[in-house]
Amino acid sequence: MPKFHTLKVKEVRRETPESVSIAFDVPAPLQADYTYQPGQYLTLKKDIKGEDVRRSYSICTSPSEEDLRVAVKWVKDGRFSTYANESLQVGDELDVMTPMGKFGVHISDKPDKQYVAFAAGSGITPVISIMKTVLEKEPSSHFTLFYGNKNFDSIIFREEIEALKNNYLEQVSVHHILSREALGSPLFKGRIDGQKCEAFSKVFFEAKAVDDYLLCGPEEMIFAVKDQLEASGVDKKRIHFELFTTAATKKAAPLVVPENAKNEDDSQITIIIDGDAIDFPLGAYSDNILDAALKQGADLPFACKGGVCCTCRAKVLEGEVEMHVNYALAPDEVEAGFVLTCQARPRTPKVVISFDEK
Ligand SMILES: Cc1cc2nc3c(=O)[nH]c(=O)nc-3n(C[C@H](O)[C@H](O)[C@H](O)COP(=O)(O)OP(=O)(O)OC[C@H]3O[C@@H](n4cnc5c(N)ncnc54)[C@H](O)[C@@H]3O)c2cc1C
Ligand code: FES
Repeated sequence: MPKFHTLKVKEVRRETPESVSIAFDVPAPLQADYTYQPGQYLTLKKDIKGEDVRRSYSICTSPSEEDLRVAVKWVKDGRFSTYANESLQVGDELDVMTPMGKFGVHISDKPDKQYVAFAAGSGITPVISIMKTVLEKEPSSHFTLFYGNKNFDSIIFREEIEALKNNYLEQVSVHHILSREALGSPLFKGRIDGQKCEAFSKVFFEAKAVDDYLLCGPEEMIFAVKDQLEASGVDKKRIHFELFTTAATKKAAPLVVPENAKNEDDSQITIIIDGDAIDFPLGAYSDNILDAALKQGADLPFACKGGVCCTCRAKVLEGEVEMHVNYALAPDEVEAGFVLTCQARPRTPKVVISFDEK
């Protein structure tokens, strides 16, 4: 079960005019709790102006580095990102959940793999963690990064990426794509989309020969590139992506309640967490199971409440639920009975859900 611990901020480093990276002091007794796989994220919790704000941020360091660090890009009117960019200081304390997430690749399972990553803006954070780990652990693998930004000044980790290029000359190719600055070739001007992906695949990589694709950035970029790769014959299983936000989290689609739906509290829900059980009744179209359980006083993990981050993942042991949206669970996880509790409503008289299942 993921847990929050209060950690001290060790460093706040300005990465670009609109982003900072934050390193945490992890005391020795908690080191094991914060071991992570490259590609995983931390959920940070802070009371901002009386509101309990929880947001997820991908770890940008590799597990072999000393620091545990995330990077936060400022979002207009964004509550946490504004606080992190404008107010957060060394020595401040934040509640930091232990690492979560399944975005990533199996490292070292084949010595000479081809990786291709498409990242935009803050989407570089999990990608650079995976990239550094691949370069350290797989000396015969090759990593190609296509990284989209507005201009040179907005490239997060620009110097670190340059250093990786220089240190791993034979293994790394990096291509910057800028939407508001010309780089000479029109191929590198604009936004990363399906057409750009197709054009890049004619010059820089052979679509079907790539072992793993990593996509992280705006939703439109991820799905345009994914569609293009699939149209080129790439197996879906080789395309890994992480969504940071979706149209749904920006403007949640309303829940459609069927006309003849009954909404009495006619389902009995049992939540299992840390071996304890909490029981309560719930209507089929009232609160989602996470919110209902929180109202009962259950201390459950969650962050986005929008079906994106996966922090509220749990397994249905008995009965059935329906998810409103799911942007986070892979088909095999759904098949195995995992659900996003922030999106789940009961569809049988009895539902048992466990947060203790891996
Ligand atoms: C698994 C995961 C990993 C993530 N990793 C990172 C990371 O490494 N670095 C990082 O900077 N962010 C990352 N995010 C996004 C992050 O969690 C927040 O959503 C983001 O920082 C905005 O939070 P906020 O409180 O500032 O904005 P909010 O107060 O939540 O939103 C304010 C306004 O901005 C809009 N908005 C929210 N998010 C975005 C966005 N990304 N782009 C444009 N508009 C937006 C909202 O619709 C709203 O109108 C990640 C998200 C997930 C789910
Ligand atoms: S809290 Fe993020 S998916 Fe449920």
